Amino acid sequence: MQRFSLEKRRERTRIVLVPTMGSLHEGHLSLIRRAKTKAGKNGLVVVTIFVNRTQFGPGEDFGRYPRTERRDLSLCRDAGADVVFIPDDADIYPASTDTRFSCHVEETKLSKGMEGASRPSHFRGVTTVVAKLFNLTQPDIAIFGAKDFQQAAVIRRMVRDLDFPVKIEVAPTVREPDGLAMSSRNAYLTPAERKQATVLYRAIALARKNVRERGPFLAGKLKKIVATRIALEPDAELDYVDFFNPETLQPEKRVSKGAQMALAVRIGQTRLIDNGQM
Ligand code: PAF
Repeated sequence: MQRFSLEKRRERTRIVLVPTMGSLHEGHLSLIRRAKTKAGKNGLVVVTIFVNRTQFGPGEDFGRYPRTERRDLSLCRDAGADVVFIPDDADIYPASTDTRFSCHVEETKLSKGMEGASRPSHFRGVTTVVAKLFNLTQPDIAIFGAKDFQQAAVIRRMVRDLDFPVKIEVAPTVREPDGLAMSSRNAYLTPAERKQATVLYRAIALARKNVRERGPFLAGKLKKIVATRIALEPDAELDYVDFFNPETLQPEKRVSKGAQMALAVRIGQTRLIDNGQM
């Protein structure tokens, strides 16, 4: 993959990367279509599919994460991907090298709250694999989804601090008609849970309405409103909700228009995340 990419770069071919963990849905396809536009007539859209175990914590869903390679390949082709890179675990983490876990990439500021607090080794796994994928695919541009708001901020920071010659683009979250953010993990939901899962979107809309009509609002008070709404769903359990500055990810004590909200909610056994602007 790296030899191929370096050759393409030498020929001045623009490479646009869409890194994924597979189990592709309309959200991923919107990223691939956007990549196609960015790549232009002579550029290359590279999609990577790799379920990266180092970003899953103990007891998380690494083992049962949906793997739908054949379907993914045909979706990639239809959406305009030119190259699909599907490394094995051993390609990315060769067991024979001593550096297996002794070298990693870690962002130490923006990665600490929210997802980072809930899943302590998660972002280290993400930044390490994304750095490796950048080295392997040599992209000019890499496109990520806004559903993983904190992930995008952490990757931007990694690129800035470590001088990766890659432009990071973040594309809007794609939603189901009832507002649920598309996610490969939605496949885990039972029909009853699927109905309740819209509570993340509804909670964001409720918080936004309060901020717009009655704000600025004390974050603590707004968190209580969100928690009360989530608790109405029998199978939902709030992991966290935070209000923060979208640039710095610093928590806001008083929430006004333009602040960002992010939340994680367990619906039965499935942990979902979402975010939105107030
Ligand atoms: O967002 C994802 O799917 C993953 O975190 C990523 C960026 C592909 C790294 O494994």
